[in-house]
Amino acid sequence: MDVAAPKILPLSAADAPAVEDLLQWAFGFTVVDAGEWSPFDSISWERTFGAWLDDPWRLAGVNTTHSFDVPVPGATLPAAGVSWVGVHPRDRRRGVATAMLRHHLHEVHDRGVEPLSLLFASEAGIYGRYGYGMAATELQLALGRGVGLRDVAGTEGLTVSFERADAERHAELLYECYTVARVGRPGWVDRPTTGLRREVLADPRWRHRLGGEVLRLLTVAGEGGRIRGYALFRRWSGGPNAGTVEVVEAVAVDLAAYRVLWGRLVDLDLTSRITTPRLATDDPLLHLLLDVPAAEPKLGHNLWCRVVDVPAALAGRRYAAPVEAVLDVTDPMCPWNQGRWRLVGGPDGASCESTDDAPQLRLDVRELGAVYLGGQALHALAGAGLVEVGDEGALAGISTAFGWPRAPLCPAVF
Ligand SMILES: CC(C)(COP(=O)(O)OP(=O)(O)OC[C@H]1O[C@@H](n2cnc3c(N)ncnc32)[C@H](O)[C@@H]1OP(=O)(O)O)[C@@H](O)C(=O)NCCC(=O)NCCS
Repeated sequence: MDVAAPKILPLSAADAPAVEDLLQWAFGFTVVDAGEWSPFDSISWERTFGAWLDDPWRLAGVNTTHSFDVPVPGATLPAAGVSWVGVHPRDRRRGVATAMLRHHLHEVHDRGVEPLSLLFASEAGIYGRYGYGMAATELQLALGRGVGLRDVAGTEGLTVSFERADAERHAELLYECYTVARVGRPGWVDRPTTGLRREVLADPRWRHRLGGEVLRLLTVAGEGGRIRGYALFRRWSGGPNAGTVEVVEAVAVDLAAYRVLWGRLVDLDLTSRITTPRLATDDPLLHLLLDVPAAEPKLGHNLWCRVVDVPAALAGRRYAAPVEAVLDVTDPMCPWNQGRWRLVGGPDGASCESTDDAPQLRLDVRELGAVYLGGQALHALAGAGLVEVGDEGALAGISTAFGWPRAPLCPAVF
């Protein structure tokens, strides 16, 4: 049996046919309606790598990396967004993904720009072994038609319009609103390329064949016609008066615009159910709704965060309260992170340096990733035996400092 380690080599747009074939094998889908939008349009070719095996020489796996910026508690940092991690079924479970992830983390470290790597996991069991922690939890709701929403001041004078969504016309317009709305929400990545800006407007015909209408765009505008919020949605037929509104993305720069969007989305004729996009666990919609349990809240894992450079990452965010602590970090895959780090920080800044002092906490880099965006409590991870506490008295203070008032979320899957 061939057990040689895979070779990781850069790929380019010229390799697109082989990459697309491999990804369809790995993820189990077939692109139909060639010539329309393709799910591969968002691949960042300048950071796409293939894993090759010998005997015969073949492409066994691929992955691509987006160069994002991401809000973190109190700041914004560059972050590497890994996407399309796929291994051909023929070559599974012989270390191809492991070799690709190791290469990715070393590539990010060697560039020296991004202290974090982020991803969405198709399955929760895959990425912990590579040091990724589940850093953001998402909520999805199913609303009934005409559901009660609290009133909000400032909605008078806002105007709405409904259009058929069109990538050509709308991608940049929506991006402006997206860019303003995401400020201050840890985890909400940028859309740095045209491919990523257009992806959300994709409207492949196979969805229409399954009973979905074309993608629709609802916008809310304020003074001077400036867009303050938008929702992308499609309705699915479901029998008489029983259609479902699938809200693909709902983004607003202020609460009044958000209230107007949701007021319209829950009041479309011939529908009975409205499904939300991914929401943060503190999304304002939860407080606009008069009855949250009736909306069948469902929790899921959202963004996974991997600290690639411990001192840069810890010094790069802000802390909810003053903190001074020594953390002893284990990280066999990225040995430059291993060891004791003295963190001194607070709401206005932070520093992080190597030290020999006794640690208050010992933890794997995976747990550091899990708490990094402020959405998971160190205290809870210690309670679950995932963080070793050297100084019980210090745990509550360090845990509070790592928390953050806004829950993390990335509404845009990449
Ligand atoms: C998930 C996937 C990338 C793994 O690739 P692979 O080359 O088989 O992975 P490796 O051989 O490097 O496996 C490394 C480890 O992860 C484990 N693992 C792999 N996939 C797993 C899964 N879905 N759930 C739990 N564990 C998994 C392996 O058992 C192995 O464990 P070990 O180190 O204890 O032996 C591959 O199966 C695949 O392409 N799946 C379909 C597409 C997909 O889901 N991609 C991920 C997108 S986020």
